[in-house]
Amino acid sequence: MDINAALAKASHTWLVTGCAGFIGSNLVEVLLKANQKVVGLDNFATGHQRNLDEVKSLVSAAQWANFRFIKADIRQLTDCQQACQGVDYVLHQAALGSVPRSINDPITTNDTNISGFLNMLVASRDASVKRFVYAASSSTYGDHPALPKVEEVIGKPLSPYAITKYVNELYADVFSRTYGFHSVGLRYFNVFGPRQDPNGAYAAVIPKWTAAMIAGDDVVINGDGETSRDFCFVANAVQANIRAALATISQSEVVNVALGDRTTLNELFAAIRQSLADNGIVYRKAAKYGEFRPGDVRHSQADISKAKALLGYAPEYRILDGIKRAMPWYIQQQ
Ligand SMILES: NC(=O)c1ccc[n+]([C@@H]2O[C@H](COP(=O)([O-])OP(=O)(O)OC[C@H]3O[C@@H](n4cnc5c(N)ncnc54)[C@H](O)[C@@H]3O)[C@@H](O)[C@H]2O)c1
Repeated sequence: MDINAALAKASHTWLVTGCAGFIGSNLVEVLLKANQKVVGLDNFATGHQRNLDEVKSLVSAAQWANFRFIKADIRQLTDCQQACQGVDYVLHQAALGSVPRSINDPITTNDTNISGFLNMLVASRDASVKRFVYAASSSTYGDHPALPKVEEVIGKPLSPYAITKYVNELYADVFSRTYGFHSVGLRYFNVFGPRQDPNGAYAAVIPKWTAAMIAGDDVVINGDGETSRDFCFVANAVQANIRAALATISQSEVVNVALGDRTTLNELFAAIRQSLADNGIVYRKAAKYGEFRPGDVRHSQADISKAKALLGYAPEYRILDGIKRAMPWYIQQQ
């Protein structure tokens, strides 16, 4: 299935929760460019109006007219019910991300990621949406050492955040068995790309290091730098969402969304430095090494065969392509 051809066949109404955030705003951009109608919900907890303004600047006036924004909170069931009215597909991204944030404030993370998720699931079921697709997480693999990560083999969660994302999967499965309401959970592995927030204590590694290198600041690697991740460019995650919405399924499913590659933090540091150099920005400092971060898993690499078989997922961008594509955006932010 070609995504653009599938979207071109008909205009549907999509609800993107967390639309002012990183992945959410990328979903809105792609859907509007494909002439879909989009309802966006966000409370700006970690998202920004500037992300929506940027999307507006990237689509035509007619496409932007297909977007309706609702400033609302998924912790309120009535907000979720209002947002789901007349919607065909829900792409539920709203949540509080970050392992350290959840360790510092487990209650707000739980309220948003579990109670808010349940509200969205109930509202979507009651509105009889065609498909509920939601952001799950590779953190669900927890302390299980096996590599690559296969969906059925998980360990114990290592953080409050990981618990919330696993509970999402359990609720989704029970809604499938109990109410026949099927959904697809996308276990994202370290997604990166334009509009991922480089600021704040909970910034993700790629935007954080890139911003630090552009500013000439120190880059601190947690641990020895041999910790590894399966970094996934955001366009691949967008593709997975749209495929998951349109796929034929007969039960709730959970799939890995990644590349199937493994990059160490030391390799990542070198790749970002090289990409900046290619853009005329030379970073001369060596990386500094700090403590390992509590709650972090040591290695992460996905087996993506289930997403390929079930959804026809075919990631288009490898990590270096993604860094190259994202770099002008990071540079423009400084
Ligand atoms: N980025 C990654 O690498 C990654 C990895 C695994 C899972 N995820 C999941 O993907 C989703 C999107 O992540 P992101 O990286 O785009 O994060 P983000 O912080 O940029 O986006 C999350 C959005 O949700 C909104 N939000 C938070 N609480 C809300 C509430 N109570 N009501 C309404 N909106 C609310 C925020 O304001 C923000 O715009 C999240 O569910 C996250 O847990 C992301």
